Amino acid sequence: MNKKILIIGSRGMLGQDMAKFLADFNLILWDQPEIDITDQNQINSKIKNLKPDIVINCAAYTDVDGCETNQDLAMQVNGSAVGYLAEITKKLDAILIHISTDYIFNGQNKDGYEEDSQEIGPLNIYGQSKLKGELLLQEKIDKYYLIRTSWLYGKNGKNFVETMLKLAQENDSLKVVNDQFGKPTLTIDLARQIRYILDNNLDFGSYHIINETQTGGISWYDFTRKIFELAEIKINLQPCTTAEFSRPAQRPAYSALINTKLPQLRNWQEALSEYLEKVK
Ligand SMILES: NC(=O)c1ccc[n+]([C@@H]2O[C@H](COP(=O)([O-])OP(=O)(O)OC[C@H]3O[C@@H](n4cnc5c(N)ncnc54)[C@H](OP(=O)(O)O)[C@@H]3O)[C@@H](O)[C@H]2O)c1
Repeated sequence: MNKKILIIGSRGMLGQDMAKFLADFNLILWDQPEIDITDQNQINSKIKNLKPDIVINCAAYTDVDGCETNQDLAMQVNGSAVGYLAEITKKLDAILIHISTDYIFNGQNKDGYEEDSQEIGPLNIYGQSKLKGELLLQEKIDKYYLIRTSWLYGKNGKNFVETMLKLAQENDSLKVVNDQFGKPTLTIDLARQIRYILDNNLDFGSYHIINETQTGGISWYDFTRKIFELAEIKINLQPCTTAEFSRPAQRPAYSALINTKLPQLRNWQEALSEYLEKVK
């Protein structure tokens, strides 16, 4: 396969797995410092010279609490930069794949959100900045895949599973919130599914890629209980409320993504089990 694919954010958690799943293409891997996606001149000249067939944007400012204090940076990296990427990708008649999040929704629907749900309403700056990116993408280019995902964990990044395993080493007891619901997703499963979209030339548009859970998702507490069960960790684990665990950024109570367009991924327990046994 000689298609030229540019992955931006290639040293991030998803970017690294994405590269593995596309290793048979002509791959170009950029992250900082090779490119700063907030610099439109740099984007235009570098990507124009490269002439990729497909650009996959895995770059983002993903520190949800950090976005509250660095609002301008969040809006630039997660918002404006997506518009710059869309403009140059369109000029080259290439395809843009962009990754977004469950946090663009309003967090009130207990059943979750389908791809075309209009229940938009981010509760924090991270979500607002990612929504800005989505809107610019849709405004500026037709040949796009907008991939929403949630609660990512994987081998190559700071993530919730690792945080819980570390906390378990340092504490005899732990409280975890039991009133925020979503769908944990393993980065290799997400990367595999993006590859599936490309291999099958699916229609352009929005897709939800998540490991399957019961309707409405699971709570962080449910997720943690399973992590400790599978890792055979004995600890006094207690559920708590969001109100007890104050954070700078407000989180949605219900943010389960519903996939109606793609074959289902395996369920979250299987993915977690593989991660704990093999991937780590
Ligand atoms: N993590 C989650 O739970 C989650 C959930 C839903 C959706 N998502 C979305 O999934 C995608 C991948 O997330 P991830 O967790 O793999 O992210 P990540 O590990 O934080 O990686 C993001 C990468 O983007 C790079 N980057 C940041 N600013 C940049 C800039 N101005 N120019 C170029 N590169 C820049 C980062 O470099 P530095 O490290 O040097 O900053 C990093 O290598 C993102 O779009 C994210 O919003 C993530």
